[in-house]
Amino acid sequence: MANLQLGRTQFGDPINAGNLLSEAEALQLLEDWVPNERLRLHMKQVAKLMKTWALQQEGLSETAAHSWWLAGVLHDADWEKYPDEHCRRIIEELEMRQIDPAVIRTIACHGPRHFGVEPETTMEKMIYVFDELSGFIHAAALIRPTRYEGMDVKSVLKKLKTPSFAAQVNREEIQDAVSRTTLTLEEVITFILNNQPEVSISA
Ligand SMILES: [Fe+2]
Repeated sequence: MANLQLGRTQFGDPINAGNLLSEAEALQLLEDWVPNERLRLHMKQVAKLMKTWALQQEGLSETAAHSWWLAGVLHDADWEKYPDEHCRRIIEELEMRQIDPAVIRTIACHGPRHFGVEPETTMEKMIYVFDELSGFIHAAALIRPTRYEGMDVKSVLKKLKTPSFAAQVNREEIQDAVSRTTLTLEEVITFILNNQPEVSISA
């Protein structure tokens, strides 16, 4: 496997604080960089969770919450086309476009073991928390006849304890991510189950 360590912990230029891509610009970047519809859906799911968390739990403004959305929607943008350079490629693109350093650093924080950047801010910690769990819960929903409907925390916990289910999802990483917050695993799963079902590829 490629070495994805970024070798630095600072990103972007503070002078660009507040400089964000619009929703349309970000979705266009996704169209250009990510042919895989499932991967695009994953990024939209994480984006929605990030934004809703920012608004509901952090009490942030729409504008501030948009930066959370942006980090979520772009965090895997280079994964399909440049797997060996993930997430260096999208970081360099956003630095070139002079995007807010907080957004870029959040993207760099979504896998501390892979990229070598430790989450510090709440936004950084939450992308790490949501990333794997969001994908895991979606995989669990897909194999149920009623999908998300009637899905509860208990069934997700049970699946997490079943190593053969979605074996590529690293359970230790999920525990590590949650342990860096004041939240419990159950609370995060509940939040995802409440907010993820409405996200669709066209949203
Ligand atoms: Fe991801």
